[in-house]
Amino acid sequence: MENILITGGAGFIGSHLVRLMVNKYPEKRIINLDKLTYAGNLSNLEDVAHKPNYRFEKADICDYEHMQQIFAAHRISGVIHLAAESHVDRSIADPFIFAKTNVLGTLALLQAAKEAWKADMQDKLFYHVSTDEVYGSLEHGGFFTETTPYDPQSPYSASKASSDHFVRAFHNTYKLPVIISNCSNNYGPYQFPEKLIPLFINNIRHNKPLPVYGKGDNVRDWLFVEDHARAIDLIFHKGKTGDTYNIGGFNEWKNIDLIKVMIKVADRLLGRPEGASDDLITYVADRAGHDLRYAIDSTKLHEELGWLPSLQFEEGIEKTIRWYLDNQTWMDNVTSGDYQKYYQQMYGTRITG
Ligand code: NAD
Ligand code: DAU
Repeated sequence: MENILITGGAGFIGSHLVRLMVNKYPEKRIINLDKLTYAGNLSNLEDVAHKPNYRFEKADICDYEHMQQIFAAHRISGVIHLAAESHVDRSIADPFIFAKTNVLGTLALLQAAKEAWKADMQDKLFYHVSTDEVYGSLEHGGFFTETTPYDPQSPYSASKASSDHFVRAFHNTYKLPVIISNCSNNYGPYQFPEKLIPLFINNIRHNKPLPVYGKGDNVRDWLFVEDHARAIDLIFHKGKTGDTYNIGGFNEWKNIDLIKVMIKVADRLLGRPEGASDDLITYVADRAGHDLRYAIDSTKLHEELGWLPSLQFEEGIEKTIRWYLDNQTWMDNVTSGDYQKYYQQMYGTRITG
């Protein structure tokens, strides 16, 4: 049986990828390696956890010896690496954990793969999941392509850029077979509600202020998370070793316009009159160093491998809002305890100050 290691499989994107691969490839064993930080939640995977081709390993990617043991125990032939600290605001508040997990953790995993595979690199692959934020901010139009120079602007994107460089360095120096993909903003079920879309849906439901950073005119390119998972699966199986692929939705939205759509759909689904939640919009201090615009050109992925997003945004956002409103227990579980402290620290003064 082929053994594929997915790191960060209990997180948002990772759980969608694990679900897709466990269901699609019963003949492959999918090993989900996750430290279960605040962002990792095994209840995201309840529907596949009992399947015979699924395993869970609780581990920290920064623990090199543990990574070596896992490679030896499972005879891993492919890695899809998603484990990371992923939230920009947290990276501004505490950059160290981002350098540790995203840079040193990726390095430990690369080294473990290289050591495990050094006798035979044939049919092995280390696939690194990265972000469009490594390219910086598009202030004057245009799109990020695979050849756009790196220009990370936040501690989060600097740590992801650094991890991408290590992945390429291992390919160049040790001939480790690698692929990197850089994706735009994902949305969909199971996203931790520190990120814009689930946070705002939850706040609308509870009639809490919607903290819009700055003037709300920053632009993001949104992709439904299952389309990202499909792209990763396709690139993992059909992509060219050593290459980079950009993944995006060709779906740019100014934050404030997206927020107005969310309010409209959520109010309708909650049975409230149109406009009932408009007053929740609250302009707050901007994020430090806030990137103005990201926009991905995923032509290469389309032309070489035939991938396109499957969902129209209107359909995807309604499906997403409905999911969060229907899954209040999931939301209550992830927003209890430490989350309350996080929310108070991040937003208390912003909203009331
Ligand atoms: P997430 O924060 O929801 O999940 C991260 C997962 O990694 C969690 O399950 C967490 O427990 C795990 N983890 C963290 N530190 C770990 C460690 N030291 N060892 C083992 N596991 C650890 O993140 P996400 O939004 O699902 O993002 C997944 C990946 O995709 C990240 O690498 C991120 O940079 C990248 N990405 C995210 C987006 C997005 O819009 N969310 C877009 C492009 C790329
Ligand atoms: O582009 C890909 C990246 O997208 C991923 O690499 C990151 O892991 C992921 O978190 C995401 O980063 P962003 O910073 O773009 O996502 P976030 O949901 O935090 O913010 C989206 C936009 O909304 C951004 O312009 C900041 C703004 N925002 C966010 C929050 C949480 C607000 O106005 N208010 C908020 O409370």
